[in-house]
Amino acid sequence: MTIQKILARRIWDSRGRPTVEVEVLNADGTSGIGIAPAGASRGSREAVELRDGGQRFMGLDVQQAVSGIVREIAPALVGRDAADQAGIDAMLIALDGTSDKSRLGGNALIATSLGVLHAAAAQARQPLWRYLADGRPVKLPLPQVQIFGGGAHAGRRVDVQNFMVIATGATSFGQAMEMTAEVYRAAGELMASRGALAGVADEGGWWPSFSRNEEALDTLVAAIERAGYTPGSEVAIALDIASSEFGRGGRYRLALENTELDSDGLCERLVRWVERYPIVSIEDPLAEDDEAGLVAFTRAVGHRVQVVGDDYLVTSADRVRAAAAAGACNCVLIKPNQAGTVTETRAALEAAHTLGYRTIVSARSGETEDVAIVHLATGWNAGQLKVGSFARSERMAKWNEGIRLETRPGAPAGFWGRSALHASMSSRA
Ligand code: PGA
Ligand code: ZN
Repeated sequence: MTIQKILARRIWDSRGRPTVEVEVLNADGTSGIGIAPAGASRGSREAVELRDGGQRFMGLDVQQAVSGIVREIAPALVGRDAADQAGIDAMLIALDGTSDKSRLGGNALIATSLGVLHAAAAQARQPLWRYLADGRPVKLPLPQVQIFGGGAHAGRRVDVQNFMVIATGATSFGQAMEMTAEVYRAAGELMASRGALAGVADEGGWWPSFSRNEEALDTLVAAIERAGYTPGSEVAIALDIASSEFGRGGRYRLALENTELDSDGLCERLVRWVERYPIVSIEDPLAEDDEAGLVAFTRAVGHRVQVVGDDYLVTSADRVRAAAAAGACNCVLIKPNQAGTVTETRAALEAAHTLGYRTIVSARSGETEDVAIVHLATGWNAGQLKVGSFARSERMAKWNEGIRLETRPGAPAGFWGRSALHASMSSRA
């Protein structure tokens, strides 16, 4: 069956900014829609978004990306079979012709690649997750849910970008959502009782009205207890430090404390947090250019917490292999638009699993109603899923999709639960 028509349009993301949507229409009447998300704290080696520049919409319009799809990508795609994801993605990469996807734009490419994937699943008359699982038994992912925003998502009000929880005591995806709902609400009540409730950050987490990074951690522990859970064994903490945002060349500037730390200093600070708080996962503890720091941190705490590479690994199979050789991180954040195509995203995930790294499929801070990543996390058996907080419909659409997948007839084989934090992932490759 062949692709008959490609429609490309500008739509709007959760920050009210332009983004690219691609609709792939098959000759049999089925179709699929792919949408590009957008990050605020991007790794320097990510696929480059094509933005128009100029005055309009802060220079963020995507008319060039849309017209590139209409003029170059659509003619090359019509007549091909949507089921040939690898062939189509290779064609997109060749058509773009640059190493960073900057000519046609990583946003144009990932929207097209995801649209083709959705169209292929529709053509196969299967839900996307099952199409991707392709007969292998897979389980629903363990969620990482933001409670407080921070960093680039909250006007740099605090240095740390993401204060999250993981319902380690949950035995189903639905129960993880129930536990998270209570903690999210309890955190809001605590903020309100201090007169510190000031709305939400970009991903729906409470606005971080704190005077120290540790105050956010203390409040998070208090919220877990207030919700009736035991910190650690029932609900644990996950952090995304996103330290490339405030560190370069081994120097880290903590704005909230008006101090500067070197790589060892930040490393020691984070190790102290791991000892003092029920933390099970830390993302980007050191900056993307500080591989020695990442190796040292992984050596210090990698046996007991998950050390996640986001900006450092940028969903690249080559970078995951290099990190494994160096001994940096033990978990890979998987963001499809960092890679730019579905095939490259999958290659990064498979490289991670082969090398014994855990994986978390992740949304971006700029999102839409698109729920594809829930299906990718499930169908690829990633183990974990991170989509932001427990508010705002671009986030809730994804959590709710997980509940649908869990409760429909023919559901996935189970729920990863806390074992996703410990399992040797090589067994699932
Ligand atoms: P982003 O970061 O703003 O680059 O999407 C999101 C994250 O890593 O949590
Ligand atoms: Zn991150």
